[in-house]
Amino acid sequence: MKLEEKEIDAFAEAAEKMYLPYDEKTGINPQDDSFLSKKRWNFVRTPKDKFPLLLHYHPLFLYRHQVCKQADTVLAHVVFGDVLPETRMDSFLYYEDITTHDSSLSTCIFGIAASGLGFYEDAYRYFGNSAKLDLLNVPGNTKDGLHMANMGGTYMAILFGFAGLKITESGLCFSPHLPKLWKTYRFHLQYKGSRIRAEIAAGEFRLTLLSGSNVPVRVYGTDYELKDFLFVPLQIVSMGIRKYKAVIFDLDGVLVSTDRYHYLAWECITRELGIPFDEKLNNLLKGVSRMESLEIILKSGKHILEEKEKIALAEKKNDLYRRCLEALDSTSIEAGVVSILKHLKSMGIKIAVGSSSKNARYILDKTGLAPWFDAVVDGNDITQTKPHPEVFLKAAELLGVVPAEALVVEDATAGIEAAHTGGFDSAALGDACNSPLAGSRIDRLSGLFYAI
Ligand code: BG6
Ligand code: MG
Repeated sequence: MKLEEKEIDAFAEAAEKMYLPYDEKTGINPQDDSFLSKKRWNFVRTPKDKFPLLLHYHPLFLYRHQVCKQADTVLAHVVFGDVLPETRMDSFLYYEDITTHDSSLSTCIFGIAASGLGFYEDAYRYFGNSAKLDLLNVPGNTKDGLHMANMGGTYMAILFGFAGLKITESGLCFSPHLPKLWKTYRFHLQYKGSRIRAEIAAGEFRLTLLSGSNVPVRVYGTDYELKDFLFVPLQIVSMGIRKYKAVIFDLDGVLVSTDRYHYLAWECITRELGIPFDEKLNNLLKGVSRMESLEIILKSGKHILEEKEKIALAEKKNDLYRRCLEALDSTSIEAGVVSILKHLKSMGIKIAVGSSSKNARYILDKTGLAPWFDAVVDGNDITQTKPHPEVFLKAAELLGVVPAEALVVEDATAGIEAAHTGGFDSAALGDACNSPLAGSRIDRLSGLFYAI
């Protein structure tokens, strides 16, 4: 290759200087240092005929937004295995929400990543998109030539995705999976001069050494020496969340950060009343109705007001709160949330919102989240607010499940108590993690896929 010593030094220096930044708040590897400081692209407001974006917007405009046309960081995670599983999961969900897949090299990589994370249904869908790209002339330019790299990617989606192949320094690793609609698949490999056939069929993973010397292999984490044949029963590597038929989400502070706006509105009211207000008092207001929140505040300040005054104050709080909500749009939902909902639905899990807020439907509409839910129960539908379980029981009924089949996701201790009283398992976020009644505790919503 006529490689010169100084080129090798330059490679080493480049490798040394390359790194993936890490962001504590989102738990992801941002694709570059300034990425998370940019505005998220507003997909809901982008007309359908403006896709692919790169043909309709100037790069200088596009690059000022958080929007990706293909797998970049997700590809880095596919290629380099040494990433924490949580970082891989969070990054995948984050980028999935902001990736347009305008490049023909995107869905094959997302498919491999999805397989590795246990999102088998979506892995199959991504694989299908890659496989059909030229067959259906999806990009409209197949007449100019086939997308050969996408074809390679489609093949890779089988080997590295479904079969879970990883080539490591200690040998070949597999964690094979058979897509639901397939009876079998097989492929050949050449590894250090040995030829191997791999078949996945009838509940079994079979390796055959066709020629060459023995090969060390690892299947589902167990080491074997491939001599002539190797048979390993297929394992279902399943996520805990799959045992539930439904997930019921609280809204404020779980799906949207509107808990911040409740805080700001109550802060104004308490200032007016001369009652000290802090996070501790605010935590007591989470999950409970507007009027009950006011009662808690008045009690903490030892204030006594007439009913009429209370109603006026509650209305004022709501006006202040509604003013904050005016700016809400699809970019107010944290990246990853829509992706999480999408994966739950792909798994056949029903999803609902169970919120004490009378503004819940307004928020769901404004952010574009509404169509995702099979049922919504909010402050207008209930007579008793959390910690009473009415809101969750009603949601479960609408979904056609019994409490034991559903998981409640909450950021309020009152909500965790409601879930517990109603007979639901719960996943606690934020302050709710302090509740002794919490079933599981998750740092972020993505924890539903690795901490349940
Ligand atoms: C809950 C919030 O979701 O809704 C509470 O956690 C709030 O803080 C309650 O008080 C009622 O909301 P709203 O919008 O009806 O005043
Ligand atoms: Mg909440």
